[in-house]
Amino acid sequence: MEKLTLLGTDFYFDAAFSYIENWVTKDKTVLIVDDVVYQQNETLFEGYQFILVKSGEENKIQQTADVVIDKLLALNVDKSFCLVAVGGGTITDLTGYVASVYKRGIGLGLVPTSILGMVDAAIGGKNGINVGLYKNMVGTTYRPKFILFDYQFLTKLPRLQWVNGFAEIIKHACIQDEEMFTQLQQVNIDYFLNNNEALQTLVKRNVLLKMKIVEEDEFENADRFLLNFGHTFGHAIENLKELPHGFAISVGMHIASLISQQITQLPVEQTQSIVNLLQQYDLPTALAFDFNKALQILQKDKKREASQINFVLLNKIGEGTFKKIELSSLQTIEETVNQWK
Ligand SMILES: NC(=O)c1ccc[n+]([C@@H]2O[C@H](COP(=O)([O-])OP(=O)(O)OC[C@H]3O[C@@H](n4cnc5c(N)ncnc54)[C@H](O)[C@@H]3O)[C@@H](O)[C@H]2O)c1
Repeated sequence: MEKLTLLGTDFYFDAAFSYIENWVTKDKTVLIVDDVVYQQNETLFEGYQFILVKSGEENKIQQTADVVIDKLLALNVDKSFCLVAVGGGTITDLTGYVASVYKRGIGLGLVPTSILGMVDAAIGGKNGINVGLYKNMVGTTYRPKFILFDYQFLTKLPRLQWVNGFAEIIKHACIQDEEMFTQLQQVNIDYFLNNNEALQTLVKRNVLLKMKIVEEDEFENADRFLLNFGHTFGHAIENLKELPHGFAISVGMHIASLISQQITQLPVEQTQSIVNLLQQYDLPTALAFDFNKALQILQKDKKREASQINFVLLNKIGEGTFKKIELSSLQTIEETVNQWK
């Protein structure tokens, strides 16, 4: 096991879930567990008090937080307790939020069990719940005491969720890590499914990359915004079509690359390399959606200022940049997008 302390959080890479006994006591801990993860790993949680929660965006809402809070009160949980989330990003987000508001804040530990949770959602201290159609509209920034990575959980993660998580890994490579981009080009998902050591190295690299961006952001640098690469159109597409977050972001990254060709002169061949890499990891890069409706959603987007929109573009692979662009300049890719089936 390897321990790193970053921004006040202890990261335990390649740890077994049972190690948490070294940092928390069973009688002062409540696990908030994804019900699917619980069923698949029941014996791991013996002796702990736990609350089961259903994963998914539809459950990442205030009503679920209220149910968890009621159960914590019934269990007489006080400020000396620690809440430990065990699940994907929806569970770590919800638990982080509850831990930050319950009795004005109690101890928090995170055990992300999805690829997306490990490389993104559990990292950086932000949490949130959805309000109606608005994702992550309510939330806090609250640092966990520890984050534990037990890769054994991933052996039961459905392949679709592996693919979903790799969209964020490829995003990280595009905005900040050309070397990782090249490494990813040489292999595929099956390689990481079957090679635990390579997976560990990849997860850790992504955690460090995100933590570096988060750290720089603390000094009022706009770097954190780079993490939105692919997300502007991605969120609009997610609104229009039911599909996993990573799939929408993948199409969004293709669109952001096409726009980069015009505004930051990203070479056409590099857009093609990004598209090829996304496809190599089973992600969609072109799907039919109503472009004008997506633009309307962007116009309502909270990032919009007048006729301009904040957008993450690429100068080149491995170098993201943040620009205010005219909404009208997005029309230039309409013809290309309208050909997508
Ligand atoms: N706070 C942040 O900074 C941040 C960043 C990125 C994403 N997020 C949030 O993360 C969420 C998405 O995360 P996610 O994709 O992990 O969602 P999720 O929690 O819904 O998990 C996805 C699916 O995988 C299942 N699952 C998780 N771990 C499993 C395992 N080990 N074995 C079998 N099944 C397992 C879940 O039951 C669920 O069906 C979104 O709500 C998003 O807003 C937050």
